[in-house]
Amino acid sequence: MDRSQISTYLNNNKERFLNELLDLLRIPSVSADPKCKGDVNKTAEAVKQRLIEAGVDKVEISPTKGHPIVYGEKIIDPKKPTVIVYGHYDVQPPDPLNLWHSPPFEPVIKKTPLHPDGAIFARGACDDKGQMYMHIKAFELMMKTNTLPCNVKFMIEGEEEVGSQNLGPWIVEHKNRLKGDVILISDTSMIANNIPSIDVGLRGLTYMEVEVTGPNRDLHSGVYGGAVANPVNVLCKMIASCHDENNHITIPGFYEDVQELTKEERAELEKAPFSLEEYKKDLGILVEQGEKGYTTNERTGIRPTLDVNGIWGGYTGEGAKTVLPGKAFAKISMRLVPNQSSEKICELFQKYFESIAPKSVILKVSHHHGGEPVVVSQNSAAFKAASNALEETYGKKPIPTRGGGSIPIVALFKKELGLDSILMGFGLDTDALHSPNEHYGIFNYYKGIETIPLFYKNYTALYK
Ligand code: BES
Ligand code: MN
Ligand code: MN
Repeated sequence: MDRSQISTYLNNNKERFLNELLDLLRIPSVSADPKCKGDVNKTAEAVKQRLIEAGVDKVEISPTKGHPIVYGEKIIDPKKPTVIVYGHYDVQPPDPLNLWHSPPFEPVIKKTPLHPDGAIFARGACDDKGQMYMHIKAFELMMKTNTLPCNVKFMIEGEEEVGSQNLGPWIVEHKNRLKGDVILISDTSMIANNIPSIDVGLRGLTYMEVEVTGPNRDLHSGVYGGAVANPVNVLCKMIASCHDENNHITIPGFYEDVQELTKEERAELEKAPFSLEEYKKDLGILVEQGEKGYTTNERTGIRPTLDVNGIWGGYTGEGAKTVLPGKAFAKISMRLVPNQSSEKICELFQKYFESIAPKSVILKVSHHHGGEPVVVSQNSAAFKAASNALEETYGKKPIPTRGGGSIPIVALFKKELGLDSILMGFGLDTDALHSPNEHYGIFNYYKGIETIPLFYKNYTALYK
């Protein structure tokens, strides 16, 4: 297989490839929203159909306690290597709806400064329907041009955005079926459309919820305020105490297991091109903020963090209400780096909150979900195969970067199946993942479809 064969097939099918993705984006597969259950199932069914049409065998929808997993495989020769493709067909909730310029599940194509060829605006366009679907189309391309060089197994789940809690047990249960050599994932970002990069790290996660109860009911803030603990005031104070003036996290033991990088490793990562000015401009902020002693990329790539994801309590409706609320709540998540353990951080967080809660309130701490951090080796055959594939299609060697996001199942692929993952993402950090107006460049979509077959070719050639 050569690049002209790939280009010919891609060029002849470009429009259909795009329209098929748009159809998939029209189904609101929001895994977090129980009202979307039917549409989540419909999306799984659509993915199954597309896999069958592309030439995958034994495609089935595997039910779980939550949303189903779509699995299929094409075994051409047991002696050949097996690539396991992982992706997710579920998406984040589209809220806040009023900030979308077009409805989240009615994809439209618009040009942007970073996507002069146009980008598809829809929830899930980049994360991860667009990136996942590139793999199905790349597979179709290899099947139809008779160039599939190895075995492929597809595992597309519907619960990534809610923590992949059922996929972990599923991979353990289906260990035999999941025999393979490497996991291939496109669910991360690259630096820019003219600066290819490969993620070599994912952060782990510990997601907590805190409930603070004061008086047994909401009170008149004039009659009782100042004499009874206000749970919102108390919660804010507890949260504020999680960082010191240098933006270090104050939870005792939090940094105990953090792997510090050597000067050389840090210098290597700092070689990645990055403009702080553009970063701030894109986000509409005047000054960045983060842990003292680290650069912006280090703060998201190699350092752990703690962020409030949501906080509520008391009166938040129209106008004003003078009330001393009975309860306050917050969702707080921590991003972890090697060698922190999600479970240990959960315990440290709980202990810390218990230790600082005043006697005037009752505290309840609960755990939502978590996942372990990952670092990808740059010395494997699979990494070289990916790096060379990107170099061929972008004309430049990709730069290894450490992304800040999490894909909790990746650590379990290693632990349970003994398999390394390759994070060959084609999105941009600025594609508004999880935000209003998420989009995915059409250039990126086609570039992915073009690059993936070269990964298969390189990997099969290097595999011995
Ligand atoms: N695709 C993202 C993760 C990602 C995005 C990694 C960009 C690197 C760069 C994934 O869908 C995601 O959003 N994961 C969640 C995990 C969670 C819900 C358990 C995350 O990172 O918040
Ligand atoms: Mn994703
Ligand atoms: Mn996501």
